[in-house]
Amino acid sequence: MIYLETVTKPALILSRLERDKLEVTINKRITEYTLVKELFVRGQDIILSPKTKVLKTFMQHGETSVYAHSLAVAKYSLLFAQFLEKTFRMKLDKDSLVRGALLHDYFLYDWHVMGKGKRTHGLTHPRTAMNNAHRDFGLNDLEKDIVLKHMFPITPIPPKHRESFIVDIADTWCAICEALKIDISSFVIRRVNFHIALASGHYTLGENVTNLVPLVKPEFAAEA
Ligand SMILES: [Fe+2]
Ligand SMILES: [Fe+2]
Repeated sequence: MIYLETVTKPALILSRLERDKLEVTINKRITEYTLVKELFVRGQDIILSPKTKVLKTFMQHGETSVYAHSLAVAKYSLLFAQFLEKTFRMKLDKDSLVRGALLHDYFLYDWHVMGKGKRTHGLTHPRTAMNNAHRDFGLNDLEKDIVLKHMFPITPIPPKHRESFIVDIADTWCAICEALKIDISSFVIRRVNFHIALASGHYTLGENVTNLVPLVKPEFAAEA
């Protein structure tokens, strides 16, 4: 909670520079709060599904699980989509965007221990993920395109829809950050955990503002 950690003295005696910095921090944090809330609302059938839990057991890039990676990709996809809608008045299907992003790596195996198949994983996993996701969650045509084309240009067929390009770019961005060990998913996991706990009725408020966290039971925790 950067906001709470930053307020170390009364606002009145903060210097102008400190106030500006604090304002930027608060605005950034509020944006992230609303962004993750929107992500949860649009993708909650997937996030709350017991089938999604298995994604926490497979690692994606570096020390990031497939689950954490998928949440980060969904968050950045939504952020890019909001930017495009506001800046260029683009009409985007954000429900399908979030669902496709959450399921884009739903291939359900550990690709690090695949032997020879490891080499072709980059080419084959989008189709495996699409088939698995359609079987478990039922995808529309746009969501299928998002999952199937998210590795373009490694897979040669380009996406048909703008939403697919957005997820493709968000996926690349997240993969680079994760490979460089830049933490892009812990905040989204914490907030998604909060919404899971809220939806499940397992939460509490702490004694003071720094303890405004849900009491997440282990089975609802996104990360062990
Ligand atoms: Fe992928
Ligand atoms: Fe990915």
